[in-house]
Parts: sequence; structure tokens; C-alpha cells
Amino acid sequence: MTSQLTWHGHATLGLETGGYRLVIDPFFNGNPAATLPAEKVEADFLLVSHGHGDHVGDAVHIAQRTGATIISNFEIASWFAKQGVEKTHGQHIGGGFKHPFGYLKLTQALHGSSLPDGSNGGNPCGFLLTTQDGKKLYFAQDTGLFGDMKLIGEEGLNLAVIPIGDNYTMGPDDALRAVKLLAPKVVIPIHYNTWGLIAQDGQAWAARVAQETGTKAVILKPGDSFSL
Ligand code: NI
Ligand code: MN
Repeated sequence: MTSQLTWHGHATLGLETGGYRLVIDPFFNGNPAATLPAEKVEADFLLVSHGHGDHVGDAVHIAQRTGATIISNFEIASWFAKQGVEKTHGQHIGGGFKHPFGYLKLTQALHGSSLPDGSNGGNPCGFLLTTQDGKKLYFAQDTGLFGDMKLIGEEGLNLAVIPIGDNYTMGPDDALRAVKLLAPKVVIPIHYNTWGLIAQDGQAWAARVAQETGTKAVILKPGDSFSL
């Protein structure tokens, strides 16, 4: 069974796995890197890592149009319910749940999480997904480097998706240290080149990963997919 990951630019990712369509941090309209308008996005589940506008994105409209379930931390899931989203599922850091697409655990992230209207967005999170065929996929989303990435790496990761943009999240140097802690088979960098403030050279970073780690760095262009 194959899972297919598509990078839509910034921190927005589509994942098809086990016959379900997931979108992580669905920021399409207003995302200068996105190759798809929110109106064309199909989804069964939307995963939202924290409350910032570039991650909440078009979640409300996509959920209302498609009937997708939004999964996030408890505070953000409750906020989406108040915005008129019918199906929400709140979890919290360290907690896992067996969804139809696989077992999803929320992981810690070092970041902020206030919601677009100023509401409390709880604590930001990353996602650790065990697919139906036992692959482990870690989506760090927005975070600084933290030593407990080593614990996440102990799960045996097939894939890690991590930010390299700097300024708001880890930059290339800390992201390289993150790869060493996580030791995934494959790493895909995100949250860069959306705006000039987070411009980075993905290929140069991939070369450093190849030189200093046993991980393969895959550089996607927005709209590109990777199968695993
Ligand atoms: Ni953020
Ligand atoms: Mn962000």
C-alpha cells in the first residue's frame, strides 16, 4: 500500500493514505506558493497544527464544503466547532487516537498558537502518524529545535517533514540537527520560500543532509508529490 504526499507550498500538505485524503494545515488562498485554490481541495480529514492564520488557512470553508473532519488540539477543535464546522476531533499532546486512516498522535512543538480572532489556540503541535500499513510519518510543522525529537525518532520514522525557513521556525542549521535526532529514512523540508523573510536554498540544505547524515532529503516544488 502506498501513501502519497503532496506539498502545496508553505506548511500545507496533502496525504492520501489507506483510501483517505488528508490535508495538513490547509492554507491555499493567500498562500503565494500554493498551486491550487481552496475551492478545488478535496479532503476527508483536515489536520491543523496551531492557530496561526497560515495554518488555519481555509480550513473552515474546506470543511463546510467537503464535510471533512478537522483534527487539532482541543482548544482549536472547539473553536472550529464554534465557527460552524460540523465534524471536529480534539486531541492533545502525547495523546493518540485510531482514526480510519491510521493512528495519529499529537507531538509537542515549540511555537505560538493564538487563533485569527485572538482566541486561545492552546499549545501548538506536530503530528506522528502510523499508517494502516505501519509506516511512521512525522510532521513537525512550526517548531524550533527540541531535544525530545530524539524520542520521536526512536519510533523509527519512514519520513519526517520539518521546517527550514528560519525566523518563525527552525532554520537550516537547527533543521540539520533535527534530522540527526529524528534519523528518518527520508526528510522533506517545508515552511520556506513562501515569502522573502523565510527564503532558503533547499538544494544546498539537502546536500548538507546527504553529507552529514544517513537520511535522504527530498526537495519538492509546490505541487510536487512523493510516494512512500
Ligand atoms: Ni505559526
Ligand atoms: Mn507558520
